[in-house]
Amino acid sequence: MSLIATDLASASLEAFNEPGEVKRGLPPEAYTGEAFWAEEKARLFPNNWVLVGFAHEMANAGDAMPVNVGDSPVLLVRNRDNQINAFHNVCRHRCLKLVDEPMNVGRMLKCPYHAWAYGLDGELRTTPYFGGDDPKSVPEGFDAKEHGLTPVRCEVWYDWIFVNISGDAQPFEDFIAPVKNRLQGMDFDQAKLVGVIDLGVVDTNWKFLMENFIEPYHVQFVHASTTDQPLVDHYIVDDGHCQGSAVDLDDSDEGGDGSGNTLAVSSRYLTLFPNFVFGRYFPDQMGVHLNVPLGPDKTLQRRAIYMTDGTELDAEAAEKLKKLWVDVHIEDHEMCIRLQEGRKSQVAQTGGVLSPHWERSVRNFQEQVVSALSE
Ligand code: FES
Ligand SMILES: [Fe+2]
Repeated sequence: MSLIATDLASASLEAFNEPGEVKRGLPPEAYTGEAFWAEEKARLFPNNWVLVGFAHEMANAGDAMPVNVGDSPVLLVRNRDNQINAFHNVCRHRCLKLVDEPMNVGRMLKCPYHAWAYGLDGELRTTPYFGGDDPKSVPEGFDAKEHGLTPVRCEVWYDWIFVNISGDAQPFEDFIAPVKNRLQGMDFDQAKLVGVIDLGVVDTNWKFLMENFIEPYHVQFVHASTTDQPLVDHYIVDDGHCQGSAVDLDDSDEGGDGSGNTLAVSSRYLTLFPNFVFGRYFPDQMGVHLNVPLGPDKTLQRRAIYMTDGTELDAEAAEKLKKLWVDVHIEDHEMCIRLQEGRKSQVAQTGGVLSPHWERSVRNFQEQVVSALSE
């Protein structure tokens, strides 16, 4: 049993596992500990479908984007058939990290060290001088077919690129089904990107950003200026690896004050474990957060905003919408940074307490974290 599974099984999870109506949250090590973070990198991220990027940011054949899953360097490449594939981002010669910044590589991925070159589908094409004086020489018994880039399981759903390093995560269709099923009737092909907001590195654990999105309890208090949606309008979405909340107003085409300045509308706040965050705001908006865990207390966050009815916003309207979302995210960041800070206190040892009603979905998310590390 690994180190953290041992920790989780003993003292640190004692409070978390206490029976009762009001449950405790995860212990502070889950948000601050290097050992816990190491286990997440070793098992939680590799074993699941992790959101790693937006397909529109690599629109052309030959576009290559390096991403990390935990510590593992992964390369996304768009091929000549317009498909995005993923590979371990490592040259098969001496295991150099092949691509270190987003670029268009043309027809070939060429390693800068000894010029081994790979096709866009990962096959090894040239290994100059590998066998000796002749640029085409190949050592006896060396079969280039066995030294192509190592593929990583990759799926693109609408604009969202997911990878599963272990290859063992559930079928992708099953993974996205809980979100897809709640968006019946939505024509994703019609949706139009408004833009991506770079929210920078937030000094908080990735799980706090997820938990914050999952629960509606804070919304009326933290986002008082951006929404006047009463808490009691929300209901909890609890569907296995899909956790979140939703609001159904009487007429889903209505909502807001017409100014576009508030988020008081029918909505769906859905997550897929571990890091997919999807918001649907009726009648015409959706957004996806890309939370990239960088360390126990650092998470890079970006948000893509889309108009679901295909409307192309003019520059002023797009800026206004982005500004609204930046404000909302900053309000959330302030809380998540303070959740992180609070973990330094001995009072946080027992994890705080969760509303059995409004934070049931947070608890479910936390149980999935434990189970992903205990498997
Ligand atoms: S490490 Fe890539 S060619 Fe040598
Ligand atoms: Fe929030």
